[in-house]
Amino acid sequence: MIELVDVRKEFDGRWVTKGVSLKIPDRQMTCIIGRSGEGKSVLLKQIVGLLRPTSGSIVIDGTDITRFAEHEITSVFQQIGYVFQFAALLDSLTVFENIGITMLESGSSSDEVLPIVKEKLSLVNLSHDILYKYPSELSGGMKKRVGLARTLVSKPSTILYDEPTTGLDPITSRVIHELMFDMQQRLSVTSIVVSHDVEIFKYADNVALLHDGQIRYFGSAKTIWESDNPYVYQFIRGLSEGPMQVDTAISSHRDE
Ligand SMILES: Nc1ncnc2c1ncn2[C@@H]1O[C@H](COP(=O)(O)OP(=O)(O)OP(=O)(O)O)[C@@H](O)[C@H]1O
Ligand SMILES: [Mg+2]
Repeated sequence: MIELVDVRKEFDGRWVTKGVSLKIPDRQMTCIIGRSGEGKSVLLKQIVGLLRPTSGSIVIDGTDITRFAEHEITSVFQQIGYVFQFAALLDSLTVFENIGITMLESGSSSDEVLPIVKEKLSLVNLSHDILYKYPSELSGGMKKRVGLARTLVSKPSTILYDEPTTGLDPITSRVIHELMFDMQQRLSVTSIVVSHDVEIFKYADNVALLHDGQIRYFGSAKTIWESDNPYVYQFIRGLSEGPMQVDTAISSHRDE
């Protein structure tokens, strides 16, 4: 169980999160939505221990990881897989090396790593033919899947996805959503997804909306389109009217 308690984060005197409290239900998919720059990626990075909150707690299975020393944080990485916003593959390494990097760096031989890499490639529905290709030879959707395969190597109990479908066409996005859903069912992991893609609601269990540094809504993804929460109503329909201030310079100019 992951619980955020009054998490606040400041960068150079500017507060990004101003008291985020959120309980993430186990073995479900929870989607975090919110406008650009609201601090969604910052929130994920704090859950995985890449950033430390300025104050507040992040409790994972009863342990507050914000109290961990630097060297203890690595244990969080094993438990929580993080799929980066832009796949973050190393261009100079092959698919095999990208997926197996942690094992290879800790001294495992290629022969030991190969079957594990193949198993993870199969899990994300990629052919073994791409093992020795470089990221530049892959499509965007394939890169995202390789990024997910790399994350699966440590057998995480929680997977965090930062905008898994950004930059993909609607068909490939759907393939990725179905893959995430399939992982969710087969591996019974807890998934936390930051997304701007409203199609994710078909696959997610819960939705949390972050605005102005706090969670303004938490509820079922299945009934999200019926929600009368004013933040949700405005956000998912992309309306300029509502509790979230929108810079209307472009639309008012057009009205002149
Ligand atoms: N390491 C950092 N140092 C200083 N400021 C940062 C750092 N990381 C993020 N920020 C700032 O925190 C704010 C929130 O950033 P974040 O990347 O979490 O937004 P986001 O909600 O993920 O946006 P998007 O939807 O565009 O990805 C931004 O103003 C960003 O500039
Ligand atoms: Mg982001």
